[in-house]
Amino acid sequence: MPQIAQSFTVGFPRAEVWRMLADVERVVTCMPGASLTRPPAGGKLLGEMRVKLGPIVAAFAGEGDLAMDDAAYTGTIRGQGMDRKNNSRVRAEVEFKATDEGAATRVEIAVDFSLTGTLAQFSRGALIQEILGRRPTRGHALGRRRLPNPHPSRRAQAGDRGREHTMKNVALSVNGKKIAATVEPRTHLGDFLREQQLLTATHLGCEHGVCGACTVLLDGRPVRSCITLAVACEAGAVTTLEGLENDPVMAELREAFAAEHGLQCGFCTPGMLISARDLVLRKAGADDRAVRIEMSGNLCRCTGYRGIVRAIRRVLDARKKTKA
Ligand code: FES
Ligand code: FES
Repeated sequence: MPQIAQSFTVGFPRAEVWRMLADVERVVTCMPGASLTRPPAGGKLLGEMRVKLGPIVAAFAGEGDLAMDDAAYTGTIRGQGMDRKNNSRVRAEVEFKATDEGAATRVEIAVDFSLTGTLAQFSRGALIQEILGRRPTRGHALGRRRLPNPHPSRRAQAGDRGREHTMKNVALSVNGKKIAATVEPRTHLGDFLREQQLLTATHLGCEHGVCGACTVLLDGRPVRSCITLAVACEAGAVTTLEGLENDPVMAELREAFAAEHGLQCGFCTPGMLISARDLVLRKAGADDRAVRIEMSGNLCRCTGYRGIVRAIRRVLDARKKTKA
């Protein structure tokens, strides 16, 4: 199951923080969108969590079991929930731990989860990140003196799960914006863009470097984001389709793809457009055959390619005329 880890520091002694965390009703009250359907009893929780992901609104109703080890200051919640409207199901195991940090307390949270159904196709990690983002540190449950740590330790990021699991920091720019993030070493750039940065124009098809749907620019060159590790982009400049909204070549290509029927379902289109833009900029004199060869790394299962080739030729020809 995928894992997400977070940690934060609260400006209260550990015993006090632990007492607050044990008061489940109070913690839930402070989490926007969360509610208990009945008071917790014997570690059993029954409740609901409303989530908004872009245009999608989901309401997960579910149950969970809470276990807290007061001596070790560790706790676990195992639960599952169902959003009937979007026909999606989430199962999760949440482990949390409180550690002394001088006069303050560091709270570490690690979530193993699986998400199935419609929402899984939209975004897997983003849903859990969205819920974790509501931890009640801003409100009264965990105190007003929240002390966020801008440099969390690797151990804190990964969570103490009794196994080797090292998260990595990565600093890069995405569509011109500088980003510092923590990722699993195995996270590929496509998942990083879609699930952590919520840049969903990049599509994932085969996820092994064949179809080209996931193509983005890394330092100006097209790469398959499904076989490029996010950590390998350290100090790099990534550009996705969202970042090319005002690009003049992209504007010409968008118009030409629409006019020449260069797309049908649109799944391959983001990768097609990025590769086509690269071709237009590099090979101004390309004929139909050259266009087909250059675009052979992008697969389309709908159009039969003729409309795509025509669209690219239209842009190449129009540019030739402008220059002449
Ligand atoms: S999803 Fe990356 S090449 Fe197919
Ligand atoms: S338009 Fe459907 S896969 Fe290309």
